[in-house]
Amino acid sequence: MSTDVQTLTLIRPDDWHLHVRDGQVMQSVLPHTARQFGRAIIMPNLQPPVVSTDQALAYRDRILAALEGTEGPKGPFTPLMTLYLTDNTTPDEIRRAKASGAVYAVKLYPAGATTNSDAGVTDLLGKCRAVLEVMQEVGMPLLVHGEVTDPDVDIFDREAVFIDRVMVPLRHDFPELKVVFEHLTTREGAQYVETADGPVAATITAHHLLYNRNALFMGGVRPHYYCLPVLKREKHREALLAAATGTSGRFFLGTDSAPHARHAKEAACGCAGCYTALHALELYATAFDSVGKLDALEAFASLNGPGFYGLEPNANTVTLERAAMTVPAELPYGDETIVPLAAGETLGWRQVQ
Ligand code: NCD
Ligand code: ZN
Ligand code: ZN
Repeated sequence: MSTDVQTLTLIRPDDWHLHVRDGQVMQSVLPHTARQFGRAIIMPNLQPPVVSTDQALAYRDRILAALEGTEGPKGPFTPLMTLYLTDNTTPDEIRRAKASGAVYAVKLYPAGATTNSDAGVTDLLGKCRAVLEVMQEVGMPLLVHGEVTDPDVDIFDREAVFIDRVMVPLRHDFPELKVVFEHLTTREGAQYVETADGPVAATITAHHLLYNRNALFMGGVRPHYYCLPVLKREKHREALLAAATGTSGRFFLGTDSAPHARHAKEAACGCAGCYTALHALELYATAFDSVGKLDALEAFASLNGPGFYGLEPNANTVTLERAAMTVPAELPYGDETIVPLAAGETLGWRQVQ
């Protein structure tokens, strides 16, 4: 496929890392995801977090109900639920989650690492050993927010340090555990995932493929480009783009679309998270196109994720056309508004069906 291609038809992609929040705002964000993706891994960092199978099933019902109430074009959409790992998660809870058939993974948030992570794990290999044992046994993937929280570690180094302090010992003790390094942001992370032994993979967001840390400070502070892990230097963006467009099969699409109302981001202490559910495929296509690798997008968006999770790819397709898409300045978000990533910018691709 050459870069002068005008349309791009892909097996319907999935989003392997998504925040849809809860309550009324879900009706604002879910149709965006359902229009582009067949399935999405739903992050459990609600307040309070989704720590039990019962809570995950109830949350799933609320998501499906919210989708029922929305208008407009949408494909078949399946939420894939996750549990929020805490120091108190039990092995029995993992078995219940697996038996439910609706919970596809367990999420590790190091305590205090990111939005709504106060209930997260304080010492993974100290407190969660029995749970990790059962996850490894039943084939339940561990999804990691891969940053240390030690305030002595520079914020731009927290992912690389997490590899040495957590990933290497974890993989040593649980070599068969499926692990997804979520929202990968560094060259060190990409190298680690590409070369690690055993079932290790990573999701990559569109914003980490399109922007480096300069985007945070262009002419002044830009809160809508602030997420965690924070945008890094250009050399890291280039390494991520090489990983995403490469052939290892270990990297797949995870938007980390993380909606926060406009006022919560444009604040003295603004929330971390970029909203990309509206235009995720357009953003990814623009990134892949920038290096002449549109032909690698289907593996990244539609095949590698199902392959890792042991699921079939979706049966239908989506089509994008090479056409200007101007990203809206803001969108409704319940009673409030949200500013999408790249608001006001023009992308080179647009979904047509
Ligand atoms: C996410 C959120 O807002 O829930 N924020 C973010 O910056 N990525 C949490 C997360 O994925 O770390
Ligand atoms: Zn995270
Ligand atoms: Zn996230």
